[in-house]
Amino acid sequence: MKFHLNKKVIAFALVVSTLFMLQSFSEARPDEPEPPKNLKVLPKNISHDDLIKVMREFTASLGVKCIACHVGTPTADGKMDFDFASDAKPEKETARHMMKMVTAINGKYLKKIGGGHFEEISCVTCHRGNVKPMVSVDSLPKQEKH
Ligand code: HEC
Ligand code: HEC
Repeated sequence: MKFHLNKKVIAFALVVSTLFMLQSFSEARPDEPEPPKNLKVLPKNISHDDLIKVMREFTASLGVKCIACHVGTPTADGKMDFDFASDAKPEKETARHMMKMVTAINGKYLKKIGGGHFEEISCVTCHRGNVKPMVSVDSLPKQEKH
């Protein structure tokens, strides 16, 4: 008797879980952003939120907008229709090299010197809100000589 009941319970649970699975498969998710198609440096399975976080860090660090690295066509209503996967803009490829450079500076160099106490660098360390992070020693505020 007990065995019989368990079998029924299991069968019921199976039906319910199958229904749930079917539902979640068929549920349309119009708001779900498309997964990235052309990542060569970032992890391919990065979540959409994390990807956008990285991109916003780029724009803030360089003092630019998305259009600095991505192809966009202005739409009639004054917006921009982006093709984020396109590699047509050379700035995007430059940014990929910069990402690898930052990883190398952190992993190959900073981590191995200073007894591991050095903080990691990022785009903003050099760029500080400028696309061209050029600074000359002469431009620095004069300091008292010791
Ligand atoms: C400094 C250049 C730069 C800026 C500015 C930038 N991106 Fe990107 N973006 C990249 C690079 C480089 C990649 C590809 C990364 C890789 O290959 O792993 C990328 C990839 C993407 C992707 C994935 C596309 C795909 O299908 O592979 C999206 C979406 C995206 N960016 C959105 C944005 C948005 C939104 C902004 C503005 C908030 C922005 N990006 C600003 C450089 C930039
Ligand atoms: C060690 C310093 C340093 C760091 C860190 C750094 N950059 Fe750069 N970046 C430069 C220099 C130097 C240039 C060349 C400026 C010039 O002479 O035009 C440059 C140029 C660029 C350009 C090309 C701009 C153009 O006009 O073509 C992009 C895009 C860029 N960096 C993105 C990034 C991103 C994204 C990061 C972080 C992943 C980053 N950089 C981190 C130093 C740095």
